Amino acid sequence: MLTQQQVKQKAAEYAARYVQPGMTIGLGTGSTVFFLIHKLAELAKSGLNFRAVPTSNQTKKMAEELGIPLTTLDDVDVLDLTIDGADEVDPDMQLIKGGGAALLQEKIVAAAGSQLIIIADETKMVTQLGAFPLPVEVITFGWKQVQRKVLQAGCKEVNLRVKDGQPLVTDHQHYILDCHYGVIENPAALNTGLHAIPGVVETGLFINMATKIITANTDGTIKER
Ligand code: A5P
Repeated sequence: MLTQQQVKQKAAEYAARYVQPGMTIGLGTGSTVFFLIHKLAELAKSGLNFRAVPTSNQTKKMAEELGIPLTTLDDVDVLDLTIDGADEVDPDMQLIKGGGAALLQEKIVAAAGSQLIIIADETKMVTQLGAFPLPVEVITFGWKQVQRKVLQAGCKEVNLRVKDGQPLVTDHQHYILDCHYGVIENPAALNTGLHAIPGVVETGLFINMATKIITANTDGTIKER
């Protein structure tokens, strides 16, 4: 039986095969992507020629330290593919992301190409989204108004994300509201509804963006769909 870390590593290392010579890729964020970054650094050292656009300061720092060639979204027209993790994946490949607070940049990077490969352990696969609190990135000004409106629209509980006793501030200087729905019946409609609230910058609902899901299991098997 593999540990959860080993499972993440397996999915991540498997996904590295999709990075081909000459590609410019989006590089995700999180504990699964951690293993991908290590694998890609190894491949870069052994001569694989590619460039990456990081989806967070954390990924940027790590990739730089390990010698992965980086570029910025402003220097690229279209990304060949993005590889990232997810917090929940439903049977239609709709996602909740943002557990690591990088959802805004992750979504912008993923949208810069037509291929988004998700790497995850089996525990992230759900029949319906919503057990994982939906991260919503908001402008700091007037955030309590957004909280109120999200609650009025039917969310059970909405919490400002806190880190070390202080509101967590994202890479783009916003706050995160973690929105507890329990079950999200219609992810696309919820995404549209949340975007209509002034102050909402982005939601962790990634609708019709994922093109491939790679999962690994504790028995070492890998599934692709
Ligand atoms: C970062 O903001 C997130 O979207 C991550 O991609 C997601 O939380 C998955 O992270 P793990 O691989 O750490 O579970």
